[in-house]
Amino acid sequence: MARTLPIKDDALEKATQLLCEGHLVAFPTETVYGLGANALDDTAVAKIFAAKKRPRFNPLIVHLSKVEDVRAFVIMNARAERIAAALWPGPLSLVLPRTPDCRLSHLVSAGLDTAAMRVPSSTPARQLLRTAGVPIAAPSANKSGMLSPTEAKHVSDAFGDDVALILDAGPCTVGLESTVLDLSTEVPTLLRAGGIVVETLESVLEESIAVAGDDDTKPKSPGMLSRHYAPKTPLRINAPHAVGGEALLGFGAPVSDEWANLSPAGDLVEAAANLFRMLHELDAQNHTGIAVCPIPEEGLGRAINDRLRRAAKGEK
Ligand code: TXA
Ligand code: MG
Repeated sequence: MARTLPIKDDALEKATQLLCEGHLVAFPTETVYGLGANALDDTAVAKIFAAKKRPRFNPLIVHLSKVEDVRAFVIMNARAERIAAALWPGPLSLVLPRTPDCRLSHLVSAGLDTAAMRVPSSTPARQLLRTAGVPIAAPSANKSGMLSPTEAKHVSDAFGDDVALILDAGPCTVGLESTVLDLSTEVPTLLRAGGIVVETLESVLEESIAVAGDDDTKPKSPGMLSRHYAPKTPLRINAPHAVGGEALLGFGAPVSDEWANLSPAGDLVEAAANLFRMLHELDAQNHTGIAVCPIPEEGLGRAINDRLRRAAKGEK
């Protein structure tokens, strides 16, 4: 079983060490327990998806202890400044454009040019973020499709040894995930209802907010928003070799004509960690196409193939 420790100085130091070594650490926030990884480390972030058994790469929320730190990673527009001044720290996540030199893993954003940021208010979460000194990517610490965890025991029951350490600070006070507000679009859009209600957001912004799925021109649910990265270059999947001017993206034992390799060792966690960064890189090189070697349809391979299939069909 995963080790559970009450939040005290030695536990915070241990958590920091594990996070910096690329391990997963579960920790309490005011909303729910999060399954945390160093958001700067591609492989650590890939472990979150492997542990949650998510069939897709949903972008993750990145947690920081101070609003000032958020500016290093995303562009805080005027609306974001207003909302942050009024409602951070708290149960609210803001989707904002990544800065040009943003060091967050591309996997955190599922390849998009935006990132969801949150400054939590709970003391234990803030203590961990301060001690760790790195941004922490954390979805709710439950398996995909299961109930959200509001106590340390829920996390240990669900993950066992997949998580290196669980920090315990008793039950979460809010018990419901954060509100997700997209401020990267022309009209501020609510992507997920949560602890902070629309009326509060509207009164701070002094303008109305669109709710995703409100009308037929918009997608029906946040999960369906066209917010996934799709390369401009045509993509061909299950391709053992490149044809014509295509660049081959390999997986497993390297072949002579490949331009990049998701994981020469055939490791799916490594492949997930590299996926969006390598697609971005190949996309920028103006090949006539990108051919991707077959990826096994197991474990994280399912999420990788889901993304590749949709990119190959031109779906976002
Ligand atoms: O309360 C919470 O928010 C918890 C605690 C641990 O902080 N975290 C959480 O994360 O619920 P998660 O990964 O389960 O939910 C993240 C939500 C998803 O609906 C995701 O699609 C959306 O935020 N999201 C994250 N980044 C996004 C982005 N760049 N664009 C659009 N939506 C994004
Ligand atoms: Mg969740």
